[in-house]
Amino acid sequence: MCEIIFSRIFLGFPVLLLWMSGGLAHAACPLELNPPRLVVRYGDSVSVNCSTSSTDHEGMGWEATFGGTSLEQDVIVVTWTVKNLTDWTIQPKCYITSKDGKQCLETFPVILYKTPDRVSISVLNHSGPMVEGTQYQLQCDIQNIAPLQNLVVKWYKGNEPLDNVTYSHVSKRPVDVSATLMISPSRDDDGDQYRCRAELDLGPEGPQPHPTVTSEPLNITVHYAPEFLPGNDTVEVSAGSDVSLDCSAEGNPPPELRWTNNIAEGNANETTVGRLRTLNISRVTANATYNCTVTNRLGSITKQIHVLVDVPPQQHPTMFSTAPSIPETMTTLPGTAKPKLVTFPLELNPPRVVVRYGDSVSVNCSTSSTDHDGMGWEATFGGTSVEQDVNVVTWTVDNLTDWTIEPKCYINLIDGKQPSIVLPVILYKTPDRVSISVLNHSGPMVEGTQYRLQCDIQNIAPLQNLVVKWYKGNEPLDNVTYSHVSKRPEDVSATLMISPSKDDNGTQYRCRAELDLGPEGPQPHPTVTSEPLSITVHYKPCINASGLPVRIPVFRGYPEELVCEAEGYPQPRIKWVYDPAKHVREAGGNLTVFEAGLYNCTATNDVATSFIVVEVVLNEDYLPLIAGFVAFMVVVISVIFVVIYSIYYKNNKMGRYSLKKAKLSSTPNGNVAQNGGRDTPFPMTKLSQPNIYF
Ligand SMILES: *[C@@H]1O[C@H](CO)[C@@H](O)[C@H](O)[C@H]1NC(C)=O
Ligand SMILES: *[C@@H]1O[C@H](CO)[C@@H](O)[C@H](O)[C@H]1NC(C)=O
Ligand SMILES: *[C@@H]1O[C@H](CO)[C@@H](O)[C@H](O)[C@H]1NC(C)=O
Ligand SMILES: *[C@@H]1O[C@H](CO)[C@@H](O)[C@H](O)[C@H]1NC(C)=O
Ligand SMILES: *[C@@H]1O[C@H](CO)[C@@H](O)[C@H](O)[C@H]1NC(C)=O
Ligand SMILES: *[C@@H]1O[C@H](CO)[C@@H](O)[C@H](O)[C@H]1NC(C)=O
Ligand SMILES: *[C@@H]1O[C@H](CO)[C@@H](O)[C@H](O)[C@H]1NC(C)=O
Ligand SMILES: *[C@@H]1O[C@H](CO)[C@@H](O)[C@H](O)[C@H]1NC(C)=O
Ligand SMILES: *[C@@H]1O[C@H](CO)[C@@H](O)[C@H](O)[C@H]1NC(C)=O
Ligand SMILES: *[C@@H]1O[C@H](CO)[C@@H](O)[C@H](O)[C@H]1NC(C)=O
Ligand SMILES: *[C@@H]1O[C@H](CO)[C@@H](O)[C@H](O)[C@H]1NC(C)=O
Ligand SMILES: *[C@@H]1O[C@H](CO)[C@@H](O)[C@H](O)[C@H]1NC(C)=O
Repeated sequence: MCEIIFSRIFLGFPVLLLWMSGGLAHAACPLELNPPRLVVRYGDSVSVNCSTSSTDHEGMGWEATFGGTSLEQDVIVVTWTVKNLTDWTIQPKCYITSKDGKQCLETFPVILYKTPDRVSISVLNHSGPMVEGTQYQLQCDIQNIAPLQNLVVKWYKGNEPLDNVTYSHVSKRPVDVSATLMISPSRDDDGDQYRCRAELDLGPEGPQPHPTVTSEPLNITVHYAPEFLPGNDTVEVSAGSDVSLDCSAEGNPPPELRWTNNIAEGNANETTVGRLRTLNISRVTANATYNCTVTNRLGSITKQIHVLVDVPPQQHPTMFSTAPSIPETMTTLPGTAKPKLVTFPLELNPPRVVVRYGDSVSVNCSTSSTDHDGMGWEATFGGTSVEQDVNVVTWTVDNLTDWTIEPKCYINLIDGKQPSIVLPVILYKTPDRVSISVLNHSGPMVEGTQYRLQCDIQNIAPLQNLVVKWYKGNEPLDNVTYSHVSKRPEDVSATLMISPSKDDNGTQYRCRAELDLGPEGPQPHPTVTSEPLSITVHYKPCINASGLPVRIPVFRGYPEELVCEAEGYPQPRIKWVYDPAKHVREAGGNLTVFEAGLYNCTATNDVATSFIVVEVVLNEDYLPLIAGFVAFMVVVISVIFVVIYSIYYKNNKMGRYSLKKAKLSSTPNGNVAQNGGRDTPFPMTKLSQPNIYF
């Protein structure tokens, strides 16, 4: 019951509305528009007929900002025409005036549209490659579109539609709008193209297909941290066989791969740098763990690969370590295999060779077995065919130039077995050029500053046998060796930090590339030495302080000479700094001063300025004063003496003897005067006598 009532109401309601708006209006206003509504592109032409069924009216016409007509009588059709419709808000109205003076209008619905001038896509607040799992906001900028309510912005990844954006805001005039899309790209999206499209859905009267403008594609790059692909992390091999370790990894940017063998049980330490995804190890002799590290700018991961060596019942004595400097490891074998070694049917003479690149080489392979099906050498150069009925085969090359040659001598035994032995060959080459230079510096050095010397060695092999020796004059400074294994020639550089002192001025540095190829190698070791690098060491001035006390007294009227001497390289310039009002005499580094004051001796060269300040203090000369005082005293004493003498003389003349005076001297009075009191203990005479005539 209820459902029926509801559906009736819902169905009936629009019908009623239609009847009320269309039916009633039509009845009241006898006008018909043809076409009834229009969608016009901005600037296009438009033409609409307004016709009436009323044969009896006062007149009819169009009222509009453009294309309006005057009131026309005796017509049943008036046409509204605009060649170039550019008024965004135009609302043309057709009207009719009936005989009874009533007027009715019909507004013509027109939608003016415009496709955008430009649609562009961009990433908001980001540039460059994206990172997997991070959110980014894409923005689509649409310029100059109308009407906004009919716009649909569609987002695409490649050809796959992602999202539709519409606008509820109503605007008849053109506007600029932006739509955004959040994305969180995955690694599979690397290289994908995003696009946005502005589409105008103008309804059934609008153009079909919808006018659209699509943006240029946005190419995205998605980076992600390295990841290992599934692979075995334990590899079992039999002793002496080759093994290939897999460390495949993916990442964007493609990761760098680095191998390091950290637990070297008999194997030489090996590091391979590059994009290699596998590591091949020839003739594995010992258990080892290899670390494989893959790195890109987003991260670094390491995995361990264990190599387990089974000890086989029978052993081949073909172990040749890549580190020939330790001959003991070359034939290291598990103890259980040793008894078998004795019966091994092949012997090499010499057992290993060290050959200069391009030289000739010859090695005999002999057998103790008298009964075999043939023997021979297998090699990229100098191999032989299978020879029967011999017990020596010789491998000979006139000009050995294959850096990675591995000649193998084999024998076909009667029982079908084919034991073989690999001849260890070390091919070496002295460097084409060894040169020494100062890194990031030219010209003279300054004492106490650090410099880096670089020794460039061009085209040397094998690198693991190279020793770079540094010398200052004839004094050895440092030895550099390389753990990196390379059979082919390479260019390498060694560096040395120096901090020269002033005594190093003019010394010569040299570096020497030496190939230490073990006991089988040439003696003395092949060496190439660089040209010497002479260094010039500048140092700051040092003023000789022993010649310049900090404080010097000077007596008035007696000038003092200050001698300023300094040592330094380049030779420092001496300059005295003082109050210009002072009276001085300057000659070279010598300054003659007359007055008290501060005198600043500065010594300057390219490196620095040093100075010593001398304080000159004035001392009064008291000598003339002392002399004057003494002279005065002498005169006074002399006068006193003369007075006493004259009194004594008078008394004597008068015949009055004083007992006291007689005791003083028993000599006659004349003697006392003449001898100057030589015998008297009276001190004054002694003092005054010489001083009177001073
Ligand atoms: C409008 O009327 C004119 C003449 O009556 C006719 O030629 C034209 O085709 C009509 N236009 C439309 C859109 O009906
Ligand atoms: C239409 O009018 C606009 C502005 O009034 C003008 O720029 C344009 O050239 C015109 N187009 C035509 C086809 O007359
Ligand atoms: C976007 O609109 C189109 C029709 O125009 C439709 O086919 C599509 O499914 C819509 N996409 C989304 C994500 O809504
Ligand atoms: C985007 O990628 C396409 C094809 O992969 C290429 O042709 C175009 O040049 C790229 N555009 C940019 C801006 O890198
Ligand atoms: C990994 O080990 C398994 C079992 O030991 C072996 O079957 C497989 O071939 C190995 N895969 C590789 C790539 O060596
Ligand atoms: C490593 O060994 C595999 C097979 O064991 C071979 O296919 C590959 O070429 C070798 N790679 C190198 C660099 O020697
Ligand atoms: C390597 O390790 C395995 C298991 O730990 C052991 O059985 C084997 O003898 C070892 N091989 C060598 C050469 O040491
Ligand atoms: C190799 O053997 C040949 C003859 O059998 C002999 O002349 C030569 O000296 C031997 N060379 C070496 C390096 O022993
Ligand atoms: C050895 O071979 C190299 C390259 O193949 C050649 O340049 C050189 O001249 C040869 N030397 C001799 C002595 O034949
Ligand atoms: C460098 O090696 C030589 C032997 O080749 C040795 O005599 C010298 O002491 C070493 N010098 C240094 C600094 O290690
Ligand atoms: C400065 O004095 C020293 C020592 O008295 C003397 O040897 C030197 O010649 C003098 N220099 C000059 C330029 O007078
Ligand atoms: C001495 O002279 C030098 C150079 O002009 C100046 O740098 C320094 O400060 C002076 N010393 C004194 C104590 O005036």
